[in-house]
Amino acid sequence: MKVAFFNTKPYDQEYFDRVNSAGTHQIRYFSSRLDLESTSLISDEKVVCAFINDNLDAQVLHKLKDKGIELIALRSAGFNHVDIACAKQLSLPVVRVPAYSPYAVAEHGVGLLLCLNRGIHRAHNRIREGDFSLRNLMGFDLHGKTVGIIGTGKIGEAFANIMLGFGCNVIAYDVVHNEQCIKSGVTYVSLDHLLSRADVISLHCPLTPDTYHLIGQKALAKMRDGVTIINTSRGKLVDTKAIINALKSGKVGLLGLDVYEEEEALFFEDFSAQGIQDDLLARLTTFPNVIVTSHQGFFTQEAMLNIAQTTLSNISQFEQDGSVQNGVL
Ligand code: NAI
Repeated sequence: MKVAFFNTKPYDQEYFDRVNSAGTHQIRYFSSRLDLESTSLISDEKVVCAFINDNLDAQVLHKLKDKGIELIALRSAGFNHVDIACAKQLSLPVVRVPAYSPYAVAEHGVGLLLCLNRGIHRAHNRIREGDFSLRNLMGFDLHGKTVGIIGTGKIGEAFANIMLGFGCNVIAYDVVHNEQCIKSGVTYVSLDHLLSRADVISLHCPLTPDTYHLIGQKALAKMRDGVTIINTSRGKLVDTKAIINALKSGKVGLLGLDVYEEEEALFFEDFSAQGIQDDLLARLTTFPNVIVTSHQGFFTQEAMLNIAQTTLSNISQFEQDGSVQNGVL
């Protein structure tokens, strides 16, 4: 099928071209983000391939429908950036990549945790300046600590297994209990119990109206002093203003973010010449006990290959018999 591919980075093109080496699909790559204006780039394509920071609101979806687009192929698991009700109303199927590598995201979350706890980011900079002191680098053993996981789907389960391997006591909160997690040794508790008992809290639930600002002032007040929070899920799960106050007061001891509330306009692009215009993000980057990465949890060779394979297979399936494989509910 003819595919209009938005928000292309060189690594996207490399993996999609590799999987599409037989030329099954004709893909036109655009570096622009998908929004109302960039829909003008579409000519006779029938499929739009979009990523997490593309705009798929009602206005854009109507425009795509008018342009003859028949399928929206997301190359992501998350779909909170798509107006699904509107897509349904327009009979515009939306497919996604439900699982490409839960390990990639879980391992990145663990990476943030280890780096923050032992001050590896600070030690790295220090040693390059010839400073070999251990000042303010003391961490804590993860072994024996209580790790609270919110959302025990594919990624939360992978994170739980790593933490169990570290000898942590793993507790979890989810609206659905994962039997495999229970067998592995995870204990399900209420959200309040988790917030008040965990030394480390890691977020792995999707962004929904229920989980928007799940970690806000009230939830933070219930947590242990000096708690560590890791968010590799979606930025809007965390109220950034509230967490900045909690960092200032010492309530939050360590914070690792792979996602940020207002990341759409920033992440994946290079603003090093202009500086950070977003004042909240700029403030976050001033804390020595905060690490922010630019939504790179998914970014491994295995995940990129799976993303390209599943996305192109979703498109092929639709082309063959009009069926919707990996459709968004
Ligand atoms: P999943 O669908 O397998 O698991 C999500 C879990 O969250 C489910 O068990 C579900 O029951 C639970 N959940 C739903 N509502 C909840 C609530 N109100 N409270 C507590 N738990 C709730 O999803 P998966 O693959 O594990 O991904 C998790 C999240 O990770 C995605 O929603 C996405 O936002 C994020 N993600 C981040 C990536 C990155 O690069 N940083 C890459 C891929 C996904």
